[in-house]
Amino acid sequence: MKKTFPVNFRWGCSTSAHQIEGSTVNDWTQWESSIDREKFLRQAGKNPEEFISGMACDSWNRFEQDIACLKEVGVNSYRFSIEWSRVEPERGVFDQTVIERYVHFAQRLKEEGIEPFVTLWHWPVPLWVRDQGRWESPQTVGDFVKFAEVMVTAMHSHVRTWITINEPLVYTSNSYVTGQWPPQQKSLRKAFRVARHLVQAHRHAYTAIKKIDSTLQVGLSKHNIHFSAKQPWGVNQVFARALTYLWNEWFLNRVRRHQDFIGLNYYFHNSVDVKFGKKEKVYSDMGWELYPEGLYRVLKGLKRYGKPVYITEHGLADKDDRHRAWYLQESLRYAHQVLNEGVDLRGYFHWSLLDNFEWADGFFPRFGLFEVDFVTCERKARPSVAVYREIIEQGGPEVLE
Ligand code: FCB
Repeated sequence: MKKTFPVNFRWGCSTSAHQIEGSTVNDWTQWESSIDREKFLRQAGKNPEEFISGMACDSWNRFEQDIACLKEVGVNSYRFSIEWSRVEPERGVFDQTVIERYVHFAQRLKEEGIEPFVTLWHWPVPLWVRDQGRWESPQTVGDFVKFAEVMVTAMHSHVRTWITINEPLVYTSNSYVTGQWPPQQKSLRKAFRVARHLVQAHRHAYTAIKKIDSTLQVGLSKHNIHFSAKQPWGVNQVFARALTYLWNEWFLNRVRRHQDFIGLNYYFHNSVDVKFGKKEKVYSDMGWELYPEGLYRVLKGLKRYGKPVYITEHGLADKDDRHRAWYLQESLRYAHQVLNEGVDLRGYFHWSLLDNFEWADGFFPRFGLFEVDFVTCERKARPSVAVYREIIEQGGPEVLE
C-alpha cells in the first residue's frame, strides 16, 4: 500500500551556504579559528581543526557535482542559501561576479528540472555586520532588506520561492541565551532585542520582495519542537503548553500577515517531565531522539495559521545510515496523515543533501544523503539515496504493516 502525495508535491533536499560552500569569510569563520575557540576545544580534548569550516564541501566550485547528486536522488526541488558575506563583503558594495554565480546556479537547476528554493539568511553575517553589532543593531534590519532586494531582483526570474530567515529562534537562543555560538552572549534582554529585529527584518523583506514581484512566494523556515507532557494534566501539561507558545508560536504569530507559506524545520520531540527530568531515549549520532510522530504533531500545530506548509528541513546525523531510511519513510507516513486533516502540506526537503559543517559541532555529525570525504571532497551516495529516490518515484512511502 502507498501513501501518495499530490503530483505537484515538492520533493527536495536542503543545505546552507556556510555549511557547504567553503572558503567563506564571515563572523563564523573568524570565530571558528579564534584563539579562545581553539583553547576551549583543546581543553575539551577535541581537535580544533575539525571545527573549522575551511573548504567544507567546496560547493562554491563543485556546484555541478551537487547538481549531479540531486539528479541521482531524483528530487524536483532544492533549498540552498545565499552567503551574504560573499555578495556584500563591504557595506553597500555588491560583488556582481558572485551574484552572477548564484544566478547561474539557479539557472542550471532549472535546466535540470529542479526548482530552487532560496534562503536569504542562514546565520553567518559579513564582518561589517558583525562590527555594527549583528542583529542587536537596528541598522542590520535595513541592511538585510537591501541585500534581499539585490538578490531577489537578480534572481527572481529563476527563483519563485524565497525563505527570508532560517530558524530565527535557534539562532537567537544559541547566540544570545546559551552562548554556544558567536557572539556567545548570555543575555535575555539582548536575545529579545535580536528576536524583535528578526521579526522586523522578515516583515520588511517580505514587503520589499513582494514589491519587486507580487507573484513571488515568501516565507521563513521555523524550527518547531513537539513538546508533549509526561502526563496530559497538571504542571507538565502547563509547561508543555507554555513552551509550545514561546518556541513554536510566538515568532510565527508576529509574522503571520507577512508570509505566503510556512517553512517547517523539524528535529526535536521534548517530553516535559518536571518531576523526574528524565532524559529521552537517544538514537541519532548526536543523541537526538528520532520521533517521527512528532512531525505529525508539529504539522498539526501549524493548522491554525491556514497557510501552505513546506517541511524545509528534516533529517538526522547518521554516519552509518542505519536509521535514515526508516526515519524518512516513517516520518513521511506521518506527514501524509495531515493532508486529510486540513494542513496544506506542499513539500518535503531532506536535511541534508551532503555531509557538511554542522556549526559548533564541526564535521562529526553526518547528515548527508551523500557521504563527503572532507579531504578530497568526493561525494558518495549512502544507501538511503535509493530509498528516497524510490519514495519520490512512487509519489510517497510504502506502508509497512
Ligand atoms: C538546523 C539548521 C541546519 C542544520 C540542521 C541539522 O537547525 O537549520 O543548518 O544545522 O539543524
